[in-house]
Amino acid sequence: MPKSLIELRDWSAQEIKNLLHFSFSLEQKSQEKTHSQASVGLLFFEASTRTRVSFEVATHKEGLNSFLISSGGGTSIEKGESLEDTLDNILAMGPDLLVVRSDDQFDQQKLSQISKIPIISAGWGKKSHPTQALLDIRALMKKNLEIQDIRLVIIGDIRHSRVANSHFQLSEKLGYQVAVLCEDNMTPQNKILRLESLEEAYEWGNVMMPLRFQHERHVSRTENLNVKKFQINRDHLDTFKSNCYLMHPGPVNYGSELDESVKKHKQNLILSQVESGVWVRRACLQHLLEVSR
Ligand code: CP
Repeated sequence: MPKSLIELRDWSAQEIKNLLHFSFSLEQKSQEKTHSQASVGLLFFEASTRTRVSFEVATHKEGLNSFLISSGGGTSIEKGESLEDTLDNILAMGPDLLVVRSDDQFDQQKLSQISKIPIISAGWGKKSHPTQALLDIRALMKKNLEIQDIRLVIIGDIRHSRVANSHFQLSEKLGYQVAVLCEDNMTPQNKILRLESLEEAYEWGNVMMPLRFQHERHVSRTENLNVKKFQINRDHLDTFKSNCYLMHPGPVNYGSELDESVKKHKQNLILSQVESGVWVRRACLQHLLEVSR
């Protein structure tokens, strides 16, 4: 059993399924609080709303003590201290678990190797966002979609997406299918089925997951990005079969990958994903604290 959750490829299919089932049993049980003495560091060296707040809510609901470092400033990184030194100092204060969001330059796997405590990745550059992929699948399980029946189409800026990478890893573990729909300069590095049009995507898949263009991770500002090429609107959703869903990891750039008209559609699961996030993160915190005891 790995002590950290950095990349889903490090976990077995059974361990991942157990974690997802644990998140459902947490929801069904009363509000038991455990590990109340544990101290959890939430270290967000990149901007975040959903992941940061849901980890804050999750630690609160689990009765854990937490401290937050947010990318907005207020740390000695402003005075020139490196991220590595910052982490060494935080580890020296004896937290029981760290949740870390960072860019690609910082090595989250190395942090997990040198620390005795569990590390949960809250997003690692373009590499991974394991809890996001887990909460996406949990939201679909909640809709009674069997995992092996999921045919997920990830649309848009796949190349710079940690969410896409985590789905590539998770789909190999759990046995669901993934395809991509994107322009040539946004293709993933690995071999994944590539679809050519939204029509083909709707024909092939039962879950559409457009992504925003992640400009902050583009090496050079990509000129002439056709951000509306695969835009999904309400008329598209009206043609979906009843067991087809729209998802988005957020943040959404309405007017680009999605039209505002999809917001209230019954097959739009975006807020259900966010709700699932708290349960998945509670399960991760409780489970990894238990494993590390
Ligand atoms: N999905 C996601 O990671 O959103 P945030 O960047 O707001 O946390």
